[in-house]
Amino acid sequence: MKILTDSNRDIAEAEKILSAGGVVAFPTETVYGLGAISTSDKAVSKIFRVKNRPKFNPLIIHVENTEMALKFCSFSEKAFLLAEKFWPGPLTIIAKKKTNIKISTLATAGLDTIAVRVPRDRIAQKLIRCVRAPIAAPSANISGKLSCTTADDIKEKLSERIDGIILGAQCELGLESTVIDCSSNACNLMRLGSIPLEEIQDFLKEKEIGGFNSEGIIKSPGQLLSHYSPDSRILLNQKFPKSDDLYLGFGPRKDGIRGLNLSETGNLREAAKNLFSHLHQLDRTSKKLGGKTIKVAPIPNKGLGISINDRLERASRLK
Ligand code: TXA
Ligand code: MG
Repeated sequence: MKILTDSNRDIAEAEKILSAGGVVAFPTETVYGLGAISTSDKAVSKIFRVKNRPKFNPLIIHVENTEMALKFCSFSEKAFLLAEKFWPGPLTIIAKKKTNIKISTLATAGLDTIAVRVPRDRIAQKLIRCVRAPIAAPSANISGKLSCTTADDIKEKLSERIDGIILGAQCELGLESTVIDCSSNACNLMRLGSIPLEEIQDFLKEKEIGGFNSEGIIKSPGQLLSHYSPDSRILLNQKFPKSDDLYLGFGPRKDGIRGLNLSETGNLREAAKNLFSHLHQLDRTSKKLGGKTIKVAPIPNKGLGISINDRLERASRLK
């Protein structure tokens, strides 16, 4: 695996690897992605192989701007409004796929819809501009396992499997993009994510756009019940940790308790940013301790807390 920086020379090197059909991990504002050129069957199939990802689970296509997205799909009025408000940023829009486009049908799992996103992260933007082609990129992890928000976690888990990594800071937001299906007249939430649910609801209400369905969240092919999982067992909503527990706290620190804290000030943004990296770290500690259960503090179920709890619940489901 080539270790690359965000210098012009290294980004050009990443472009070369990608153009030759390779897979390169790169930072985005949400989580690290595993990129491949989306127009190449060979490159896209390598992503599925590297991740051990089921073929029925389509990938998000990362583009530079709305104009580039519209080469591959048609937007409804609601999709345009959402893109105008939230792009570049942590929103993925699912739209009707245009016919005869060059994107590999493996990337869209043969569906007649396509998921597109314009990331705002500077390095992700720089890479897409240099490649001058849409990049297919799922989260950088083995399918079903914890997503990665730091380069170190990727090096540990994926270095044997991928061709390169572009180093960046810890991802700014820490949770994957919010996914909204705008491919019909309605708008359906497919995955909770970095944009709090209320923010989208308020925005669509303000634009007097009805028909937003966030009830029961219709599942994307990838929204498997158990997902985002560490190897260790996880127990949620643990208010009173004991001194020999391994604890993921939230809010004021409890003295004498081993573990990490998502946010001592109870800030949900900070907690979201730390979630996956803290779980990776605690998973390592748990292994050293012979497989100790990770106990997790209750997270308020409002704002970003709803998205954090979604990830925690899936992480805690038995595989
Ligand atoms: O923040 C993110 O979205 C990150 C960064 C790298 O951009 N990517 C990411 O990709 O989380 P991934 O593959 O881990 O999750 C993509 C989700 C999956 O649940 C997949 O099933 C869904 O998007 N998806 C993709 N295309 C779809 C489609 N046409 N219809 C329904 N769901 C789709
Ligand atoms: Mg993922």
